[in-house]
Amino acid sequence: MKTILWATLTANGNYAQSSPDNPPKKEALGDFAIQAKAAGNFIVGRRTFESMLASGGGSGFEGIDIVVLSRKTHDISGVTFAGSPQEALRCLQNKGHHTALLAGGADLHNAFLKERLVDEILFNVAPVLEGKGLQLLIDTDRYQYKQVELLDSKSLGGGVIQLRYAVGK
Ligand SMILES: NC(=O)c1ccc[n+]([C@@H]2O[C@H](COP(=O)([O-])OP(=O)(O)OC[C@H]3O[C@@H](n4cnc5c(N)ncnc54)[C@H](OP(=O)(O)O)[C@@H]3O)[C@@H](O)[C@H]2O)c1
Repeated sequence: MKTILWATLTANGNYAQSSPDNPPKKEALGDFAIQAKAAGNFIVGRRTFESMLASGGGSGFEGIDIVVLSRKTHDISGVTFAGSPQEALRCLQNKGHHTALLAGGADLHNAFLKERLVDEILFNVAPVLEGKGLQLLIDTDRYQYKQVELLDSKSLGGGVIQLRYAVGK
């Protein structure tokens, strides 16, 4: 199973957050819809999933398998819940998927990074600066680094630049 981490970063390198005052760029959202359609699925953290539902963003994903990561038990029709990154991947594999799109948020992405379960990264760098913010980390306890290979870069419009990286195991 190939995993693709899809995330928007701010121009000063934070993990971008959104709010009603600072909604995601439409160019980034448009790209997410394309990537989700191509993969046929996405895995999302419980908090981001609830925000998507609250903002009406849960619609438009008909035919796409959505797996929500949560340590608790939930029952929402049309959505699969998984208790760990590995379980989320197994759910999609059992449904015949070959690629999994990791939609965020930061907790979910960091859980997959920590478990070395990311094969490719799509970063959308948005033209915005933030104050205190969230981060993507491969290790929360100690300093580490990992080389990644830049595969592609392109403009999505609206000042958003997309960078695609391969992450070696
Ligand atoms: N930059 C981007 O591309 C992007 C994308 C999406 C969201 N966001 C931003 O990210 C923020 C939300 O992210 P967040 O980090 O607060 O929450 P999140 O990652 O959306 O969801 C966190 C929840 O996921 C579950 N979870 C996380 N790791 C898990 C693990 N290893 N095993 C089982 N369950 C696990 C837990 O759910 P339970 O508590 O139910 O157990 C946890 O509370 C917002 O600010 C949003 O705007 C940014």
